[in-house]
Parts: sequence; C-alpha cells; structure tokens
Amino acid sequence: MTTHTMLPIFFLLLTSLISQSIACNVVDKEALLQFKNQITSDPSKLLNTWTPSSDCCKGWNGITCDSTTGRVISLTLSGTVDDADLPLDTFLSGTLSPYLGNLTNLKILSLVNLKQLNGPIPKEFNKLSNLEKLYLNDNNFSGSLPFEIGSLISLSELVLSGNKFSGRIPSSIRNLKLLTSLDLHKNDFRSGVPEIIGDLKNLRNIDLSDNKIDGIIPESIGNLKQLVTLDMMKNKIKGYVPVSIGGLDSLTFCRISENLLTGILPSEIGNLKNLKSLNLGNNMLNGNLPASIGNLSSLVELYLANNQFSGKIPPTLENLKNLQRVDFSSNRLKGRIPKSMAKMSVSSFLGNRNLCGSPLLPCKRF
Ligand SMILES: *[C@@H]1O[C@H](CO)[C@@H](O)[C@H](O)[C@H]1NC(C)=O
Ligand SMILES: *[C@@H]1O[C@H](CO)[C@@H](O)[C@H](O)[C@H]1NC(C)=O
Ligand SMILES: *[C@@H]1O[C@H](CO)[C@@H](O)[C@H](O)[C@H]1NC(C)=O
Repeated sequence: MTTHTMLPIFFLLLTSLISQSIACNVVDKEALLQFKNQITSDPSKLLNTWTPSSDCCKGWNGITCDSTTGRVISLTLSGTVDDADLPLDTFLSGTLSPYLGNLTNLKILSLVNLKQLNGPIPKEFNKLSNLEKLYLNDNNFSGSLPFEIGSLISLSELVLSGNKFSGRIPSSIRNLKLLTSLDLHKNDFRSGVPEIIGDLKNLRNIDLSDNKIDGIIPESIGNLKQLVTLDMMKNKIKGYVPVSIGGLDSLTFCRISENLLTGILPSEIGNLKNLKSLNLGNNMLNGNLPASIGNLSSLVELYLANNQFSGKIPPTLENLKNLQRVDFSSNRLKGRIPKSMAKMSVSSFLGNRNLCGSPLLPCKRF
C-alpha cells in the first residue's frame, strides 16, 4: 500500500480508538452509586455528576478509570476548611458502603477532610488487593481497624489520621509488606505498638502520635532501616527507649515526647548520623546524658525537657555544629553548658538554674 491509501485508514483507526474508549464497568458503576446512596448530606454537590444515566468514566467528579478496561482506578474526594479548620460547606455525611469493596481495580481511595463521614471501615475492603493508597484522614470514622486490612497487600500509604478509630492496631498489618507510610495520628487507638512493626521493612514514616497507645516500644523497631520519621508523641508508652533505636540508619525526625518512658537514654542513640530533630521531652527518663549524643552530627533540635536527667552535660555536645534549639529545662542537670550552647539566644537555649555558662548565667557561683 502507498502512503496515500494508508493515510485515511490510519485516521479511521484513530477516530475509532478515541470514540471507543471503553464505558464504565457495570459492577464499578453500581458500587459507586451504592456509595452515593449512603451519603446523607452533600451540601456542595460533590456527587451531583454521579447519575445512573451517565458513564462513570466520563465526567463523574473524583473518578478516574483505566481507559482500556473501563475499571475505576481512583476515587478522590476532598473537603475544604476555613482558617479555624472548620468545614466550609464542602463536607459529606454518611457511612462507607460495603459495595466499595467491589472496586477491585482501585489503586487510590482518597476521601479526606470531609469531616462528617462516619462509621467503620467495611470488612469488604479486603477485596481491594490492588489498592496502593488509602487516605481517610480528617473525617469522623470510628470502630477498630478490621483484621481484613491485612488483605490490602499492595498498600504503600495508609493514612487514617484525624478520626475516632479505636481498639488495637491489628497484627494482620504484617502482610502489608509494601507499606512506606503508616499515619494513624489523632485517633483513639489503644494497646501497644505491635511487635510485628519490625517486619514492615519499607516503612519510611510512622506517625502514631496523639492516641492512647500504651505498652513498650518493641526492639523490632530497630529493623526499619528506611525509617525517616518516627512520631509517637502524646501516648502512654512505657518502658525503655530500645537499644535497637541505634539501628534506624535513615532516621531524621524522632519525637516520643509526652509519654511515660523510663530508664536511661541508651548510648546507641549516637549512631543516628542523619538525625536532625530529637524530642523526648515530658517523660521520666533519668541517668546521665550519653556522651555519644555528641556524634549526632546532623542534629538541629534537641528537646529533653521535663525528665529526670542528672549529672553534667557531656562536653562532646560541643561537636554539634548544626544545633540551633535546645531545651534541657526541668531536669536535674547541673554545671557548665558547652560554649556553643552558651552562644545561643535566650529563646533557643532553655536550661535551668543549675546550668551555667552564658553571659546571663555566669558560672562564678559554682
Ligand atoms: C458487590 O458488593 C456487595 C456488597 O458487599 C456484594 O453483596 C455483591 O456480591 C458484590 N457484587 C459483585 C459483583 O462482586
Ligand atoms: C462524629 O461522630 C460522633 C459519634 O461517633 C457524633 O457524636 C459527632 O456528632 C460526630 N461529629 C461530626 C462533626 O459529625
Ligand atoms: C561516638 O561517641 C563516643 C563517645 O563520645 C565515642 O567514644 C565513639 O567513638 C563515637 N562513635 C562514632 C562512630 O563516632
């Protein structure tokens, strides 16, 4: 064939390909309409485009389909809030339909900041084995995480913060081998940090802050070589800072403040070469500060206020060239502070009256 005869055929093929883009899968469409059915209030009409007579892959707000299969791959709806974090008129009330479990090709399920979505995560979510991102943050969901959450084997990001989830973190999360981010902050989770957390070797971010988690931090946490941020602030965590913490090679942010930690700060903490921010304030830690803190060459912030640390500040802390903010207040530390800290402004260095060395607190009386 010559180019002249091929050209029209080419265009014919192209137009048929475009017009042919597969219609929405019927099971997926039914699942979405069932979801809409359980929404009791939608003042800003987020779901107005979702009508039985239209194709869910064409013009339905928040829906993305795979163009070759017509399967829904993303359901994304979010609310907006004002400066005081109160919902503007963009919110949804209602519960999650078990039919959502029929969206078996879904990769992203993001229903965030809609404030008044409530009830539990349906156990039918176990069918979402292709789901990579589950964001349900800033709603009013409750109940415990279903054991079936362990079936979401493709999940890399699980963000459930800002809800009223309760109960324990199910051990079935050990199956979520691809998980990089576990964000459960601001809920009512109880019981301990599960031992199996150490199995989730791809974790880069753990945020369990602002819950009611008690028990100890398991030694297994030291296996998480990719972990960059660890936030367990404001819980009821007891026991020691695990010696294994020194194994968290990638850690840059560590906040376990406002808990019930006891015992000493293990010298292994000094292995954390990438650590920029360490906050262990408001616990019951005691003993001397380990000299190895001076090895934390990336450290910018060191908050150890409201503990029972005693003795002198190790002179090795003079090595911390990047340190900008320090809080040692309400401890039993005494003696001379390193010269580098003496140069910090009054607001950047908080000590107590038994620490001296700055122009304001000369060491004469010691
Ligand atoms: C869709 O979900 C409902 C509720 O879980 C279930 O009863 C039904 O069998 C599912 N349909 C398909 C085709 O999977
Ligand atoms: C959230 O749910 C609780 C019941 O669990 C209810 O009392 C409360 O009014 C709800 N809050 C909002 C903002 O919908
Ligand atoms: C860490 O600090 C301690 C005490 O200051 C020191 O003996 C040790 O050699 C340091 N280790 C490394 C790897 O720098």
